[in-house]
Amino acid sequence: MTSHSLPKGMIRAASIAGPHEGYMPGFGNDFETEALPGALPQGMNSPQKCNYGLYGEQLSGTAFTAPSHQNERTWCYRIRPSVKHTHRFKKIAVPLWRSAPCIDPDIISLGQYRWDPVTVPNERLTWITGMRTMVTAGDVNTQTGMASHMYLVNASMEDEYFFSADGELLVVPQEGRLRFCTELGVIDLEPKEIAILPRGLVYRVEVLEGPARGFVCENYGQKFQLPGRGPIGANCMANRRDFKTPVAAYEDREVPSKVTVKWCGQFHVTEIGHSPLDVVAWHGNYAPVKYDLRTYCPVGAVLFDHPDPSIFTVLTAPSGIEGTANIDFVLFRERWMVAENTFRPPWYHKNVMSEMMGNIYGVYDAKPKGFVPGGMSLHNCMLPHGPDKGAFEHASNEPMVPVKQSDTMSF
Ligand code: FE2
Repeated sequence: MTSHSLPKGMIRAASIAGPHEGYMPGFGNDFETEALPGALPQGMNSPQKCNYGLYGEQLSGTAFTAPSHQNERTWCYRIRPSVKHTHRFKKIAVPLWRSAPCIDPDIISLGQYRWDPVTVPNERLTWITGMRTMVTAGDVNTQTGMASHMYLVNASMEDEYFFSADGELLVVPQEGRLRFCTELGVIDLEPKEIAILPRGLVYRVEVLEGPARGFVCENYGQKFQLPGRGPIGANCMANRRDFKTPVAAYEDREVPSKVTVKWCGQFHVTEIGHSPLDVVAWHGNYAPVKYDLRTYCPVGAVLFDHPDPSIFTVLTAPSGIEGTANIDFVLFRERWMVAENTFRPPWYHKNVMSEMMGNIYGVYDAKPKGFVPGGMSLHNCMLPHGPDKGAFEHASNEPMVPVKQSDTMSF
């Protein structure tokens, strides 16, 4: 390693002024950020020598040849190249974090499923050991489909780091607060917010307020993007400016450390002598991001009928077939119900998509019982489902006056 003269310890960049301190606004923007002045090369990516003796390195989230509107990559300027952050790998067992395909051959019942929230056990559980797979679809090795997990975390990772080669993680906290110290900056996350951790990004998860419980969507396929709004126009739903990407932050710590990688559904660990979070500056559009669900502006029925739930899409991950998602992340939050002469809850139906729901807080209108905060439900592909009997009776007889759905957030 070349010599360098960097200040020791974690440095947070202070170049972002105003209300966005610590974060840069926008979804899919081409950002640039540096934790030390002059660390980011200007006008080129690969100078012969980088300032501070840093190494230039590209992290590509899409194929080099992806069309320009989908192409995502970030240039990192770091104390050591990433190849120094891996040593000999050893396979380890993480039995409760599973990957598709894993259809249980002994499945006893199809139909509608509801699960109560799981209590966080007393044993030490980190972001890796606290992950519990609930449902899977597709195939991790062909990079199609997804898995849905619950995380139950009561312990910070200490000199332990993680990255996934299998997909990006969409994190939906339900209880507690977590800090994601990533190669590209720090994201603090609490309930009513979500975050996306890109495939390949190295990070450590700390508990700010525990125990922490929440949901994770592991997306094996193409990245999440914002849905097209069509005739709705240029505004409403999730707005780009409400997404926040952290400014550069790094640490220069030489301590025995472990890096675990999830790769083709397996887990492998490697031991190194330093923190891998050593990116001092970066520029590009492949980066972690968080979003406050309270800024989601729902659009819905204003005269009659109940639109398809796709009207509430926050993020969509395309499948490659136009208009057909690999995953849609859809939010049911506080809103007014005003439709006249209408059965207002979701209608009875069966459809090609499998629907996994989680309750962040409150009561969901079609499932007033047995679907509590922290709980999940599953309506599988082409298996019929619809409102509970009580919800049907109520909605069939309620007066047709405007009603506020208050204190509710499910997805
Ligand atoms: Fe449904």
